[in-house]
Amino acid sequence: MEPKFTFLLVNESITIRKIWGLKLAHFQAQIIEASSATEALTLFDEQRFDLILADCQLPQTQGIDFITQIRQHPQGGQIPFVAVQPLPNQTQSEKAYELGTTLVLTQQENEKVWQQALSHLFEQGLGHLGSLILVVDDSPALLRLVEAGLTKAGFQVVTACNGKEALEVLKTTEPAIIISDLDMPVMNGIEFCKALLAQEETRHIPFIILSANSEKSVMRSLIAQGASAYVVKPFHLEQFIITVEKALSEQFRLLDEDRKRLELERNSMLGSITALVNALEARDPYTSGHSQRVSQYAVAIGEKMGLSKAELETLQIGARLHDLGKIGIADGLLRKPGKLTAEEVASFNEHPMIGSTILTPIPSLAPIIPVVELHHERIDGEGYPKGLKGEKIPLMARICAVADCYDALTSDRPYRKGFPHHKAMDILSEVKGTQLCDHSVQAFTQWAEAQQTLPIHENNSSLT
Ligand SMILES: [Fe+2]
Repeated sequence: MEPKFTFLLVNESITIRKIWGLKLAHFQAQIIEASSATEALTLFDEQRFDLILADCQLPQTQGIDFITQIRQHPQGGQIPFVAVQPLPNQTQSEKAYELGTTLVLTQQENEKVWQQALSHLFEQGLGHLGSLILVVDDSPALLRLVEAGLTKAGFQVVTACNGKEALEVLKTTEPAIIISDLDMPVMNGIEFCKALLAQEETRHIPFIILSANSEKSVMRSLIAQGASAYVVKPFHLEQFIITVEKALSEQFRLLDEDRKRLELERNSMLGSITALVNALEARDPYTSGHSQRVSQYAVAIGEKMGLSKAELETLQIGARLHDLGKIGIADGLLRKPGKLTAEEVASFNEHPMIGSTILTPIPSLAPIIPVVELHHERIDGEGYPKGLKGEKIPLMARICAVADCYDALTSDRPYRKGFPHHKAMDILSEVKGTQLCDHSVQAFTQWAEAQQTLPIHENNSSLT
């Protein structure tokens, strides 16, 4: 992966620079090292950095003087500057902050403390550097001026000369913020702003209006409709960049709050639903641990098939909850040892839809519903509840079916002992392409073959 940031580490000692580099590994940044302030300033003339981390006591020049030199440099006004003290020193750190240091860290502090402090710095603003900004204006001179200012401040810029052209640009790029003039030919800023607010994909992008004083009432009306801020022309470039950074900070804060709220809601729902699954499994000793194992096997298959981290998480939760709907199946039917009547089979087969109905009111669990609802579909279309065929069955549901089937085969039933691993694998192989997904069975076989011990659960008991 391409590093997102470039950090400059300035310290006389190569060993200390390496230690700092290790403490910063979490950020996956490109690390450039300098052994003195002079060397660092030469590097600073040649390339752009996203963060400087420097010793407070550099040779030749005092570390504190180095902060001043960076702040006075044409590119150094905005850059986050982290001063590192060998030991805590209140007087020195106050002086460093006075001169424009962004953060003071101590050498002794561990990786976690550094990581937390710097992550906070990222949330405050460093995370904005490198963000893509779309600037829309019909004046080439203004575009050039704004582009130069934003690039210098560390942003990437893409431009368009009217609203229509900007909408085209937005089909292929996803800017973190949009800045637009109001008075433009073809499609003016008001129409453009309204078009953005009307589209689901662009509604969330902060929109800054750039216009003449005479249009203040229009700008205020757009703010009321959802635009983030306005800047009156002519403007001071520095003030303009501060407005952009503020809008981005606000956007990051809102997104972060949203993420935390969703995560909290999801965790509390998952806690309750997992408790339900545990209660379900407690109804019958034969089901003990079934969903946990199915989840483990499904993730193993998903990993072999190259699913992303997010997809694996969805699969893990979906497989864990795949039989949630059995909560709605009567005890007598669930525990019946012998063959089920046709009516009982129909009743039992309702459990995927019952599970799906239980989960539907929870928006954050929407991605797992296909796993719960469709884990009994068959490749040949003979499964239930929908009789979907082949790839019409979502991949995660097909994977879950293989995991579920293997665990069922190797589990003891009231009326038979579970099959040994090799026999269960033979059966999976026989039904691939008809009942089960060929690729998912292959992936499970490869995973099982690579295991030191056979992937059969300890108590060998389950009921699908
Ligand atoms: Fe099931």
